[in-house]
Amino acid sequence: MAQILDGREVSAAIKETLKREVSAMVDAGMRPPHLVAILVGNDGGSMTYVGAKEKACHEVGFLGSVIRYDDTVTEAELLEKIDEINNDSQIDGLIVQLPLPSHIDENKVTLAISPAKDVDGFHDVNMGRLTKGADGVKPATPYGITLILKHYGIETAGKNVVVVGRSNIVGRPMSIMLSGPGETGNATVTVTHSRTVDLASYTRNADILVAAIGKPGFITGDMVKPGAVVIDVGTTRITDPSKKAGWRLSGDVDFASTEPVAGAITPVPGGVGPMTIAGLLANTLLARKAGIAARTA
Ligand code: GUN
Repeated sequence: MAQILDGREVSAAIKETLKREVSAMVDAGMRPPHLVAILVGNDGGSMTYVGAKEKACHEVGFLGSVIRYDDTVTEAELLEKIDEINNDSQIDGLIVQLPLPSHIDENKVTLAISPAKDVDGFHDVNMGRLTKGADGVKPATPYGITLILKHYGIETAGKNVVVVGRSNIVGRPMSIMLSGPGETGNATVTVTHSRTVDLASYTRNADILVAAIGKPGFITGDMVKPGAVVIDVGTTRITDPSKKAGWRLSGDVDFASTEPVAGAITPVPGGVGPMTIAGLLANTLLARKAGIAARTA
């Protein structure tokens, strides 16, 4: 029986702390942090995530708004809006929900966001800073994962960590954070991916296993070392006629076969998802504070 790492509970505790900081900021006569999300198209998952981010902003006293575009929006229109937000001193953070329609170059869009407002931490400047171990925003999902590890007192130093997946959003930055110095670092990290030969020979040696590949139920109990900490980043919608919506979220880990083997595991939903939002909010407060410091310097 594995310990359940409860992302909803940890995220709620982090949100309480942020709420108190915002409240002190407002009491001191300052504007609260303001996050803007751009959402293109009608992808169900993206709409859910952006809606959850907006709601979380309001819960902690941030200003939060969503700019919605039809999926016919041109790249030029999007870049123009980003430029406008970059120059708006009333906005601290901007995220453009990914994926974008194929006629829009995601990299171009990511690089158009001012690094100071890039609270997703996806801009090359912020990724570069992360790689060099400098202070700054960290991509929200891996950042949220370090926060849940910290909350439960899970030691990373000297541990064997296996990250399955090398995406720019999760796998790559996760491996950098866990292998770097610091409280939730100093691990020995192996990054595995679709071209890894005999994946199970790696995962079976992991003290901490991070699954971020977007393949429902891909990691099964026989691939997991007894007592390992299993972090499930997957959030794929799969058809389920027994649900009112007709679908349910599935992680990358087959919970039924893994939970009896693992020492601790994040559930889906209610594990990493809420932690991503906590990470994003923390980054937005950081951007607001950096903005205040820059203006008073
Ligand atoms: N798509 C999947 N995860 C993310 C995220 O953390 N931020 C943005 N902007 N898009 C995503």
